[in-house]
Amino acid sequence: MNRFDSYFAYLGNELQCEGRKLQYLALEYGTPLYVYTARGFKERFQEIDSALSGIDHLICYSIKTNFNMGIITLMASMGSGADVVSGGELYRALKAGISPEKIVFAGVGKTREEIEYAVDAGILMFNCESFQEIELIEEISAAKKKKTAIAVRVNPDVDAKTHHYITTGKKENKFGITVHMLKKYLPRLKQHQNLIFRGIHGHIGSQIITTEPYIQATEKFIALIADLKKSGWGNIEYVNLGGGMGIVYHEESPFDMQMWAKEIISRLTPLGLKLIVEPGRYISGNSGILLTRVTYRKEGEAKTFLITDGGMNDLIRPSLYGAYQNVLNCIKRDGEEIVDVVGPVCESGDFFAKDRKITLTFQGDYLAVMSAGAYCMAMASRYNSRRLPAEVMISEGGEVRLIRKRDSWEDLLRNEMP
Ligand code: LLP
Repeated sequence: MNRFDSYFAYLGNELQCEGRKLQYLALEYGTPLYVYTARGFKERFQEIDSALSGIDHLICYSIKTNFNMGIITLMASMGSGADVVSGGELYRALKAGISPEKIVFAGVGKTREEIEYAVDAGILMFNCESFQEIELIEEISAAKKKKTAIAVRVNPDVDAKTHHYITTGKKENKFGITVHMLKKYLPRLKQHQNLIFRGIHGHIGSQIITTEPYIQATEKFIALIADLKKSGWGNIEYVNLGGGMGIVYHEESPFDMQMWAKEIISRLTPLGLKLIVEPGRYISGNSGILLTRVTYRKEGEAKTFLITDGGMNDLIRPSLYGAYQNVLNCIKRDGEEIVDVVGPVCESGDFFAKDRKITLTFQGDYLAVMSAGAYCMAMASRYNSRRLPAEVMISEGGEVRLIRKRDSWEDLLRNEMP
């Protein structure tokens, strides 16, 4: 079960991970500080891997979720592949030792430079999002005298019932190609000598907590593949269902990985298809937290504000999506209060929690923003000239390793030419 409190939990009244008291980590490394658990990444990866043991499969960890090299290297050591969406992510995946044959490349706007890079690297396949992109991959592959494998990202017009910013499989979203349009394009695709049409890809959204949308999408893909096979597209051997499996941030019911796998496997095996999945959040989301110090406790007329040294630039999900992330004090005290937990950035939208019931908290306390392993550091910025935070990884034995130094003042000016 992928719960926010399974790796970072109170022992007595102190929040800890692998026996390490988090407030001491905050004192040692400073705040804001991202803290990750290697056990979390490993156990979630293994959970998916064993749920899929009944089918030939490849797990491509979605690098956009959390792209620290310490994390990608850990994923590589377990045999994970990578889902990348930019040349930069491809660079990271290769540097971390992920074999190119385990890398898939998605994204609606791949540039010529990025496509050339990936063709040269010899990745497993491109997940193509438009005919224009397919034409460009053909042109580049022809020039390089290479055969390049592609999957077509099909937009199945399925509602994943998640936040509208992170739903991607509806007709009105910019992603993928509809079945109807793909069929019209097939004669043209047939002429491309340098492409191998190997799979159907379909990422339908993120933070999905039921299996139903996946089943609907899989059934659409299977029907399409059966059709394609009849009309001579015998090379199609992969279905890539993308990522999207949700985690518990608050009171969601946990995603049922076993059930999901069973439903998918039973539908794909009769056609002898291989499965690729691109989980991100499911692996990283509850494997990390953000530690931040209460700089001031400000009692206003209407509200009490806990003003922290971490802000929306460090962790933007509550501000951007109105996302709920639990906030815990590293020391649990008797007594509770209702507060706003806000950052120092000059925007009213800079908050981690509003009207939140939290343990009685004082100036100088350390707070943990929970479920912060996915799309948190990955979306951090230097807005307000704030330095990007440090990140540490705790091993299963409780050893702590710095995997990213906090920015220095000089880092803020690097690359600028006054
Ligand atoms: N594959 C593709 C093609 C994707 O676009 C994504 C995520 C994934 C896999 C991984 O999805 P996951 O397993 O992590 O749900 N920033 C938002 C989420 C954006 C998701 C973008 N695509 C958030 O903080 O909720």
